[in-house]
This record gives sequence, C-alpha cells and structure tokens, in this order.
Amino acid sequence: MKTFLYQTNEEITAVARLLQEGQVVAIPTETVYGLAANALDEQAVRKIFAAKNRPADNPLIVHIAKREELTSLVKEIPPMARALADAFWPGPLTMVLPRSAVVPDVVTAGGDTVAVRMPSHPVARAIIEACGLPLAAPSANRSGSPSPTTAAHVMADMEGIIPAVFDGGECQVGLESTVVSLVGDKPRLLRPGGITPEQLERVVGEMDIDPSITANVHLDKVSSPGMKYKHYAPKAQVTLLHGSCQSFVDFMNHHAEPDSVALCFDEEASLINKQVLRIGHEHDHDEIAHNLFALLREADKQNVTRIYAHCPSRQGVGLAVYNRLIRAAAFDERELEA
Ligand code: TXA
Ligand code: MG
Repeated sequence: MKTFLYQTNEEITAVARLLQEGQVVAIPTETVYGLAANALDEQAVRKIFAAKNRPADNPLIVHIAKREELTSLVKEIPPMARALADAFWPGPLTMVLPRSAVVPDVVTAGGDTVAVRMPSHPVARAIIEACGLPLAAPSANRSGSPSPTTAAHVMADMEGIIPAVFDGGECQVGLESTVVSLVGDKPRLLRPGGITPEQLERVVGEMDIDPSITANVHLDKVSSPGMKYKHYAPKAQVTLLHGSCQSFVDFMNHHAEPDSVALCFDEEASLINKQVLRIGHEHDHDEIAHNLFALLREADKQNVTRIYAHCPSRQGVGLAVYNRLIRAAAFDERELEA
C-alpha cells in the first residue's frame, strides 16, 4: 500500500486523481480514518464494501467540503438541518436527510435517505476539494473491528486490499461522528459521537434518542443499520463494569481472573495489581474518546484474552464512549457493588 504524507499539494493532487479514477483511498478525518471513494460512482463504492467486508444493507456517509454540495445530494434542506450545519459544520456531525436521485442506491443501501457530513480535517477537506467529488467513506477498518485512528491501524487492516492511505497523523476525536436523522417530525439521534446530545439540543430543542444507542434492541428495529452489528470488538472478551473507582479497583484485585487486563482510568492504574491499559483521566471524556479504539487495538497486539473495562459517566462525549464499549463488550455489562 502506498502511503502519502502531506508535504506539498502534489500528494493531495495524486490522491484526488486516484479517487477520480474510481479507486478507494483511506483518508484521515478528525473522527477516524475513512475508506473513501467517489460517492457518485457505483462501481467505486462497491469496492469500499468489498474492502471492508461490509454488509450491503449498511449505508455509507457522503463527505462534502462546501455547503453548496449538500443541495444536489438531498431533496430538501429543512431549517433544522441549516441550523445544525451552521453550528457544527465542518465537524463531527452527520445528518440523515431525504436523498436526491443523484445518489446511487449502493450508497444508501437502497433507502430513501442519505447521510452527509462535512469533515473539518484539513487533509480530508483538501482532498474533497481537489477531486471535486462527494466522497462516500465508512470507517477504514475491516467490518467488526475497532475504527482506525492512525494510518498504522489502517495498514494493519487494509494492507494488500486498498492501493493507498494518506497519513494525516492521529485523529483528534478518536470516535466516529454523531449521526442525527432529520427525516421525521422530530430530530433523532442515531449514533452518539463527538458532538454531544446537550450541544445538539441547544440548537434543535428536544430530540428523540434511538433506543439502539444504549441497548441491544431487536435487530429489525434499528434505524441506523450500523448499530446492529457486533462492533468495535477486540479479540479479547470484554466486560463493561459500572461503579466507583474503589469498587473497580477492588474487583480487579480480588475477583478478576489472574491474566485479565483492566481498561481503567489513569487515577486507578497504580492501585490495580494486574496489567492495565490506561484510557485517560476519569473526567476527561475527550481524552478517553481519543484513546479508546487505539487501546482496543493495542490489546489485540498483546494477545489479551480478557478485558474488564471501567465505564466513564455517560454525560457528554461519555455517551459515545459507552455506546462503543457496550458493543465491544457484546452487551456484557455489570454493576459493581458499592
Ligand atoms: O466519523 C465518521 O462518521 C466516520 C468518518 C470516516 O467520517 N465514518 C463512519 O462511517 O463512521 P461508518 O460507515 O463506519 O458509519 C456510518 C454510520 C453507520 O452506523 C450507518 O448505519 C449510519 O451511519 N448511516 C449511514 N447512512 C445512513 C442513513 N441513510 N440512515 C441511517 N443511518 C445511516
Ligand atoms: Mg464503522
């Protein structure tokens, strides 16, 4: 796989050309790395599904660099969508809107809506502008594994499968974008991410929260198809634990299997008598979000077989962390006694 590094505009132009030719290229965004292809080219988009081994019923997000590009992709732009774009674009917010006929079925998985996002990462923006195309891009991992937050993660999953990756360094947010549907009467949060429910509600008022975000709801009922798959999962068996630092430390020291590993807050690390993976400071949700996927991949590298993860509070970005962790744990979560 060829690796591009930003030095001059030549690298951007070279990647833009690959995309115009219908190739798939992994690109950095502020959330996670994306596996990008021309969203208007059905054959190119099919290559994304093949590279990821992604089920065809899971639609893709279309990435744009300018507001005008939204107009041709959707049937209409409701006032709430304008307000959300004003507040959070460019940035980690994806909006689901009624699609226009320009968007191929393969992108929307045959549905009548399309998900659109304007990333803020300067390399992503430069590439979209240089190729002059909207780019369909899911996270650049093989389906089921944690999303890549570095070019090295992309290479681990995609070597020999895609022709190129653009190395833009570590992704700042570290979790995928917030997905909001604006198709019904009321805005609906489909996937929590870097933009928090509190931030969204300040702009759109009260929102519905899709039940699949915090629960293993019946598979046919999920409105964001990506939420139904076992996901973000390392090879190790993960259990998610809720409770105080004291109860988590006690559990690890007295009840956890000898060779198990704690995915713990920095404050707990030195108190635990087992191997630890430090996820960040207990109250720094941005830091925890930034580190989560990289640590799950690190656990795989170390051939860890059993992980106990201490869940942060579900406030703010903590909701997105919780949403990814319960999937990594295949919904095995337990309350620790105080
Ligand atoms: O931050 C992100 O969103 C990253 C970067 C690369 O932009 N992309 C990403 O894509 O996470 P992906 O494909 O891994 O996740 C897209 C999510 C899936 O859960 C999918 O089901 C949902 O968005 N989605 C896409 N189109 C949709 C639609 N029309 N209606 C409802 N959900 C949709
Ligand atoms: Mg994904």
